[in-house]
Amino acid sequence: SIVSPLLRTGYHFQPPRNWINGMLAILEFLCLPLPFCSNVLQGVVPPVLPVQPKGAVWGNIVWAHSVSHDLINWIALEPAIYPSIPSDKYGCWSGSATLLADGTPAITYTGISRPDINYQEQNIAFPKNKSDPLLREWVKPPELNPIASPEAGINATQFRDPTTAWFADGHWRMLVGGVRRTRGLAFVYRSRDFKKWARAKHPLHSAMTGMWECLDFFPVAGSGEEHGVDTSEHGEKYVLKASLDLNRYDYYTIGSYNKGKDRYFPDDPAGDYHRLRYDYGNFYASKTFYDPAKRRRVLLGWANESYIVPDKSKAKGWAGIHAIPRKMWLDPRGKQLLQWPVEEVEKLRGKSISVGGKVVKPGEHFEVTGLATSYQADVEVSFEVSSLDKAEPFDPAYDNDAQKLCGVKGADVKGGVGPFGLSSLSPDLYKPTFAGFADANISNGKISLRSLIDRSVVESFGAGGKTCILSRVYPSIAIGKGAHVYVFNNGEVDVKVSHLTAWEMKKPLMNGA
Ligand code: FRU
Repeated sequence: SIVSPLLRTGYHFQPPRNWINGMLAILEFLCLPLPFCSNVLQGVVPPVLPVQPKGAVWGNIVWAHSVSHDLINWIALEPAIYPSIPSDKYGCWSGSATLLADGTPAITYTGISRPDINYQEQNIAFPKNKSDPLLREWVKPPELNPIASPEAGINATQFRDPTTAWFADGHWRMLVGGVRRTRGLAFVYRSRDFKKWARAKHPLHSAMTGMWECLDFFPVAGSGEEHGVDTSEHGEKYVLKASLDLNRYDYYTIGSYNKGKDRYFPDDPAGDYHRLRYDYGNFYASKTFYDPAKRRRVLLGWANESYIVPDKSKAKGWAGIHAIPRKMWLDPRGKQLLQWPVEEVEKLRGKSISVGGKVVKPGEHFEVTGLATSYQADVEVSFEVSSLDKAEPFDPAYDNDAQKLCGVKGADVKGGVGPFGLSSLSPDLYKPTFAGFADANISNGKISLRSLIDRSVVESFGAGGKTCILSRVYPSIAIGKGAHVYVFNNGEVDVKVSHLTAWEMKKPLMNGA
């Protein structure tokens, strides 16, 4: 059933076919549309390339190019960056875009210059024609490339993914991820003119976490302020995100940045060891950008497959989707980020149904009926728990690891307060794969959940975006019309659905597919 076309997502970003990696660069344009690049494998590569298309498995990485004016409807163009110079001859891997002061966009990315060991060098590209609103063609000035090569002492096979650059005190700075033995590193590169780059002596930060891929470093406004801050502006706080090759999750810390020294200091140094995750499901190699039109920071994340048997991917012809872009800002307590699907996704909402003031007794569930497309829906629900007296004490044996806990105590295990929530199958069949704790005050008994359901993905936002879980699910029964939405309560106390609204979700333009 994994190859069923009914399981291909309806409104999540996806190329028409083949493998897709992380989203790389949204160019911050005051005039829309927003040109957009992501790296997608083969199939959309121009036929001039002497490579054998591999299909829906990793390899032959190029930057595919899609454009959008709302982050939801997408039109695919020809690939923007593909191997063409000695320093990217064997692959154009991840990178970022930066808008220079005069409005010129620049893309920095990792090129593979030797296939035997995946030797990594950083390159730069500029639009061939700045006045083309779609920025279709990119040039890689030979006199500039590569802009950074692994010098002696740098592991050349683990040296990649330049970040969006920021400007401070007369210099541009960008980060490149690396590793020294088991220490993940954020190398700092500086430039006056964005052409010639030199590595700073000290990394911005490092931690014993293994290789840091797809770094992201950006300022955020004060606690609880929802608006975003341009990457070169001063932030109350800074966020450093690293994608850990070790376990393929995105971890971040919140801290301060010393511009003079180009050093980052996490508020809670213990956070260096994996405390905060953007998402507790399939979510990797993400990247943020600042959208000046709506004054917000937007997070783009790649949902790598949970089902990664290459043969199956080949058979189904595609692998990977992107999460619905999320607005991101600092929580009022300043200890974590909050995330919420960009408001534009609400344009896809069609018919809705609402339920209010419905009590779900222990062991009971009810079906949310009336949607023609339960497999493609947006559900917002607020729960009220009658009493917290029966709540289990926090058990440190679970190591602050919600996934471990829920692996033992699934949604079908009876608890004190809960488990309760939304489910796509009759609740006693439900087997959760992912879990996260939400650091929320529920002394008033209230907690909310929003779920974006899209055929083989469920993206959930708990407690107003405190805890997010994107889960790739390949149901064998809940396919197409077989999908239903249930509210269940397996706890010992009543749970009230104070309010639930579910919308059918329409299909946007999705790269011609
Ligand atoms: C992220 C990543 C990047 C690299 C790219 C190669 O998953 O491994 O570090 O640049 O993918 O496809």
